[in-house]
Amino acid sequence: MRPILVTGGTGTLGRAVVHRLLSRGCPVRVLSRQAHTPGEHGWAVGDLVTGRGVEAALSGAGTVVHCATTNGKRDVAATRRLVEAAGGTGVSHLLYVSIVGVDRVPLGYYRAKAECERLVVESGLGWTVLRATQFHDLVLRVLEGLSKAPVLVVPRGVAFQPVDVRDVAERVAELAEAGPAGRAGDFGGPEVRPVEALAAEFLRARGRRRPVLRAPVPGGTARALRAGGNLVQPGGLVSAGGLVPARPAGRITFAEFLAERFPA
Ligand SMILES: NC(=O)c1ccc[n+]([C@@H]2O[C@H](COP(=O)([O-])OP(=O)(O)OC[C@H]3O[C@@H](n4cnc5c(N)ncnc54)[C@H](OP(=O)(O)O)[C@@H]3O)[C@@H](O)[C@H]2O)c1
Repeated sequence: MRPILVTGGTGTLGRAVVHRLLSRGCPVRVLSRQAHTPGEHGWAVGDLVTGRGVEAALSGAGTVVHCATTNGKRDVAATRRLVEAAGGTGVSHLLYVSIVGVDRVPLGYYRAKAECERLVVESGLGWTVLRATQFHDLVLRVLEGLSKAPVLVVPRGVAFQPVDVRDVAERVAELAEAGPAGRAGDFGGPEVRPVEALAAEFLRARGRRRPVLRAPVPGGTARALRAGGNLVQPGGLVSAGGLVPARPAGRITFAEFLAERFPA
């Protein structure tokens, strides 16, 4: 079996993807800019922005799971480099992890992700694009930052559908093994929650007392978020606890994630 190259395999999602692939018995090679000690899987040192080591990293790989991100404008350059290098090899499947709503929410990072999707789709390789909603880890990081102020201010009328990276990783691993699927169904967390509810849950888990203030936020990004542009569409089914996504989704809730991260 040819190795699966995981770019970003040292990142939040990538680590979970590597774990899932290994537990399914897949041979894995991880691309990182730093050298690592070999263990359960292979490593390749390389940089997708400069191109250093990328061809060697791809050598012999049949599938590439592209989880690397520079969190900014260099994502397009990095993805272009990867696509061009993969074209000349035996890679038959390129799976790209993107974000739900990249074509609806007018953020610079989302525009870059949409452009990366286009590069993957037009690569001439077999491809899969999986869009996921915000990871629990990201929501936690943002709320940690916002809770440094005496009042935790959140945008009014905005909901999120956070998902656990272990659930996303399971889906990525399934898709990686299954072969090119084109645009896979968007993947979100098990619940759609107003941001103030997520904030309250976070404060409870951290044992912090803060008022949560919902503030009107102007601008196109906030408007797109209020319209649910960041949620798996259609929005979901109303239940007693809030909205339940209509499609198959992750299983681990934000509350469960917090309980694991911050045991009482
Ligand atoms: N965070 C979210 O809520 C969210 C939601 C949906 C989708 N996504 C997408 O999921 C993917 C993974 O996100 P994440 O939050 O897990 O990322 P992350 O934790 O920030 O990890 C970024 C990874 O990219 C690698 N990387 C950065 N620059 C690189 C370069 N020049 N060359 C090669 N590798 C490079 C890093 O590897 P080294 O440092 O080892 O080189 C690291 O493993 C991204 O595509 C992101 O857009 C994220």
